Amino acid sequence: MSELSGTDIDALSEAEARAELPGLIARIEAANTAYHTHDAPEISDADYDALKQRLAAIEAKFPSLKSESSPTEQIGGQLAEGFGKITHAVRMMSLANAFSDEDISEFDESVRNFLGLKADGPLTYTAEPKIDGLSLSIRYENGRLIHAATRGDGEVGENVTENARTISDIPQTLDNAPEIIEIRGEVYMSHADFEALNARAEKAGDKRFANPRNAAAGSLRQLDPKVTAARPLKFFAYAWGEHSEPLADTQIDAIARLETLGFKTNPLTRLCDGPGEMIAHYRDIEARRATLGYDIDGVVYKVNDLALQRRLGYRSTTPRWAIAHKFPAELAWTQLEGIDIQVGRTGALSPVARLTPVTVGGVVVSNATLHNEDYIAGRDSRGEAIRGGKDIRVGDWAQVYRAGDVIPKVADVDLARRPADAKPYEFPTHCPRCGSEAIREEGDAVRRCTGGLICPAQAVEKLKHFVSRAAFDIEGLGAKQVEQFYADGWIQEPADIFTLEERFGQGLQQLKNREGWGEKSARNLFDAIAERRTIALHRLIFALGIRHVGESSAGLLATHYGTWENFEAAMTRAEIGQGPDWEELLSIDGVGETLATSVVTTFHQEAERASIDRLTAYLTVEAAEKPKSDSPVSGLTVVFTGTLEKMTRAEAKARAEALGAKVSGSVSAKTDLVVAGPGAGSKAKKAAELNIRVIDEDEWIDLAGGA
Ligand code: IVH
Repeated sequence: MSELSGTDIDALSEAEARAELPGLIARIEAANTAYHTHDAPEISDADYDALKQRLAAIEAKFPSLKSESSPTEQIGGQLAEGFGKITHAVRMMSLANAFSDEDISEFDESVRNFLGLKADGPLTYTAEPKIDGLSLSIRYENGRLIHAATRGDGEVGENVTENARTISDIPQTLDNAPEIIEIRGEVYMSHADFEALNARAEKAGDKRFANPRNAAAGSLRQLDPKVTAARPLKFFAYAWGEHSEPLADTQIDAIARLETLGFKTNPLTRLCDGPGEMIAHYRDIEARRATLGYDIDGVVYKVNDLALQRRLGYRSTTPRWAIAHKFPAELAWTQLEGIDIQVGRTGALSPVARLTPVTVGGVVVSNATLHNEDYIAGRDSRGEAIRGGKDIRVGDWAQVYRAGDVIPKVADVDLARRPADAKPYEFPTHCPRCGSEAIREEGDAVRRCTGGLICPAQAVEKLKHFVSRAAFDIEGLGAKQVEQFYADGWIQEPADIFTLEERFGQGLQQLKNREGWGEKSARNLFDAIAERRTIALHRLIFALGIRHVGESSAGLLATHYGTWENFEAAMTRAEIGQGPDWEELLSIDGVGETLATSVVTTFHQEAERASIDRLTAYLTVEAAEKPKSDSPVSGLTVVFTGTLEKMTRAEAKARAEALGAKVSGSVSAKTDLVVAGPGAGSKAKKAAELNIRVIDEDEWIDLAGGA
């Protein structure tokens, strides 16, 4: 630390301060860039804090030397302005993953089943490399590039228009294009350009990028487009968002059209007549992988017929008409130096392997997950042996495995190299953070801390989750700031975030005096918090951090219940395992018993419930947007019964839901419409009794706007 401390501030003259400031600011900015842009911190948090404290102290002593753009005026190292946000006109989806040949046959089967196609009838797919970069959506209106946005959370991305304009593979204007067209694809960096960039960085004394994807992401997300322009980025187009007219009738022709428009498309894109050809092309691409000159992490298959793609539609975050066939994971051997226990927001004790750093598929890995105590002991959840029953011990040589973006895992250990004194690992029976007992409930693979909200680890993790991107996403309040505020006793639970400003009355003053916060950043933080007092229902449900409730199930719950009042009342009334509210919860496609039990339990736990009530008292919760639809079936509860002849049940249900209808399995007073095919029995009868409108399949197709 001594090399960072410099002359005592009290003794510092104004001239000395003036001379010192530029160097000090440059060091802080370099540390910020390393941390935020490259995700690769170069100095310890303590050293970083010391630098910022010194800067703040010098500025306090000589206010005239402080500039508006000083790092003390920025939050968490990020420029307060950052990138603007762009709401995607059509959501940017991700892809479901497949890992084996069987998964591909199952994919083909599921597509056929959904569409009601025969197992041996014709059905073609495209197959193309999955580029390991970052996705970008570029909007053109009347042939002119209007804006470009990163994927973000799929709904809202970052406005990187000026940076995208510097990429030579991206045309500034299009000839003979639809009036409105959003082109989507992957920004990536070639191996050669990556090596050259790293060589330049090394020469300049800067840090190397870990891999081409990080280099591409760091380059596209530069606040200064001149920096982006100096970094050689490339772009492959493979998809589209909003479009005022169709590009073609098939995927393969649409790709050809993208080329005509001036985009680069991947030369290894092929048409395949089924799983056999798809897998053969996958093997071919895999064999060429090392010589392509850019990173790919699998092969993407897409149903070729765009009319069928439309019929297949989407699950909550992925299309039914495409799948990513990932390449097998990469492996390396290294030594296990220790096992740390992390405590998550639901109290789960997760063992993490601390490893002697090793490169796995181009990325340096020093931590890997060990899943749970059974995994360490060499058992699966049913008590059966895994790894031939070998346990994992500190000191072992461990095989580390990494597939794409997922957290590396320890797959195996080498008994021949096990140190003689290595002892079986004893999994803690108490929480390492709060000392509460950690218990394992029957049927649960995980041991959990019973400390609940008194456990600081759980509380902090809950808060971090609460402010995360898909939840409240409060600008200037990230994981780091939450930890700081929690440690200072300023925020203990989510509700506290919304009283921060008033509790500190002169809080601005207090916050301002803290290292790292200036008047402007404190003001910005309070404004950002105030802005989130109005929040979308699905974000609130996700933010509560209820076990098993991820982003997509929060979305399902929000769409189903519509308003917070409805949701809260239903969860309060619901009884686990019985009654109409429980049945209703389970009727939601995608909600199973585990999730339902977890949600209902949370709403019936006194402390949890009180914490939720304290929070919602500060909020205005926006009702969930029903899927945008002016369809006459929007908002209706529909029951299908009997045989459908023109589409499968699955397709009829998905289509009805996409149009904003609710599909139910049984006829009741709440039913608005019954679609009855041949063979309809008791349900049609009951509908007649209840005076509910009954229509046949053709009428349904008319109502739903054609097949
Ligand atoms: S199609 C609606 N094709 O992979 C589906 N995606 O894991 C649109 N990706 O978010 C995506 N290469 O960023 C598609 N040839 C390819 C791709 C590709 C890379 C990325 C894309 C997507 C992610 C999903």
